[in-house]
Amino acid sequence: MEQEISNEQPILDVLVLAAGLGTRMRSNLAKVLHKIDGRPMVNHVCRTALALAPRKVYVVIGHHGEDVKKAVLEELDTEHAEFVWQKAQLGTGDAVNAAREFLENEDSTLLVLSGDVPMIRVETLASLVQQHRNHRGKGAACTILTVKLDDPTGYGRVVRDDSGFFQKIVEQKDATNEEKNIKEINSGIYCFDTKKLFAALSSVQNNNSQGEYYLTDVPALLRAAGEDVSLYHHTDAREVSGINNRMELSDMERVLCRRTISKMMLDYGVSFIDPKNTYISEQANIGRDTVIYPNVTIEGETLIGDGCTIRSGTRITNSHIGRGVEILDNCVITDSEISNDCTVGPFAHLRGKTKMEEKAKVGNFVELKKTILGRGSKANHLTYLGDAAIGEKTNIGAGTITCNYDGVNKHATNIGNNVRIGSDTMLIAPIKVGDGAVTGAGSVVTKDVPNDSLVVGAPAKVKRNLKEEEETKSVKA
Ligand code: UD1
Ligand code: MG
Repeated sequence: MEQEISNEQPILDVLVLAAGLGTRMRSNLAKVLHKIDGRPMVNHVCRTALALAPRKVYVVIGHHGEDVKKAVLEELDTEHAEFVWQKAQLGTGDAVNAAREFLENEDSTLLVLSGDVPMIRVETLASLVQQHRNHRGKGAACTILTVKLDDPTGYGRVVRDDSGFFQKIVEQKDATNEEKNIKEINSGIYCFDTKKLFAALSSVQNNNSQGEYYLTDVPALLRAAGEDVSLYHHTDAREVSGINNRMELSDMERVLCRRTISKMMLDYGVSFIDPKNTYISEQANIGRDTVIYPNVTIEGETLIGDGCTIRSGTRITNSHIGRGVEILDNCVITDSEISNDCTVGPFAHLRGKTKMEEKAKVGNFVELKKTILGRGSKANHLTYLGDAAIGEKTNIGAGTITCNYDGVNKHATNIGNNVRIGSDTMLIAPIKVGDGAVTGAGSVVTKDVPNDSLVVGAPAKVKRNLKEEEETKSVKA
């Protein structure tokens, strides 16, 4: 979705405001670190900013600044990100001013974004920048992204003069009753001519009801100085909703999820039995004719192929699921891979880079951790397989445990092809069970099992060689 702005244009820099505490969240976490779709709000903003191919993204940090920095660096590399500390949070104008030493003499367009407006789309920003630069053939000093809201409570109102030109922004707390009736609001997203912004910012005062330095005073100052301030009116109000409390956070989460599910139904041909009670990440991809039952959660970069069934109560995170896979109720699948035509659950737990090869089967109350279950192999009941590699067409009996942890280290279990592990077998790792071997019910296997052997007992001892026995049988016959 990279949408580059032509090279002939001036340079684009982005400034993200993310230093505020967000008192209305009533949280010990900085507001911009609260997550939407599993990622901090500020990361959504930074990813969108990066898609505009800017020279740099300046992030103003303050409250929990180190935590915010860490989160942002998951999204931006150090070449693109520049962190600017705002020592005391004296308002959005002061926040921008914190970047003065980096930007005041730059011949660039500065796109200002709010860390708490996470749904803004790259297409919208690109056309905002374009309008700003093309304004009356020479570009504006400032362009403000505005929307009309039925309920504009809490937002800064955009006051226009009699001819409909921009006059000023007035904050909710400073607005007269007449101004409060204005439905057009400031989204907190703007483009500035960088030099002109910093020149005007020097004159911003804090003589308002909150005693803060408002960035929103800059456009009126620019206008008073004879500069052009342009308004970019956007129709999708949801896209620029700011998040200031947990109600708004959960509303936003729902809107995003609804949008993702609708797209999957209409564009990808995925069925949802109860879309309102299903939670699908925007980062997930689901194939055609897959059916998702109520109360399923799909998180992170999960890929699900065509024709799968995912039953209720299942959560899948950062995993790859092939075609024709059936996942029954109440499974938890994390960082794992399930190949075509596998069956999982109910009540199964797959994690830690587990891989199920084609047509493998995992049944109820089975946990697989960092385990490969080979093609056509089965672990149907009540089993823990950790740090194990299991070959093809092997059957793991009910109650089997790989005892992979000796209290200090984790050890591997290797089980070959066509093995039959009897019910309640304990495999004391590190251990190898050869192809064609069988363990008796209740065996405690402490030594490697040779190919084609039957072991039984606790600790299990080799009782006989199955192949030799078979050969003897056939000789006798
Ligand atoms: C701001 C705008 C308002 C607009 C609204 C849109 C001002 C004065 N008001 O109000 O016109 O309608 O956004 O969502 O700008 N921040 C800092 N340092 C500070 C203060 C804030 O970095 O000292 C950051 C916050 O972390 C946040 C962003 O700036 O990401 C906006 O601050 P917030 O307090 O949410 O402003 P609003 O009251 O929403
Ligand atoms: Mg806000």
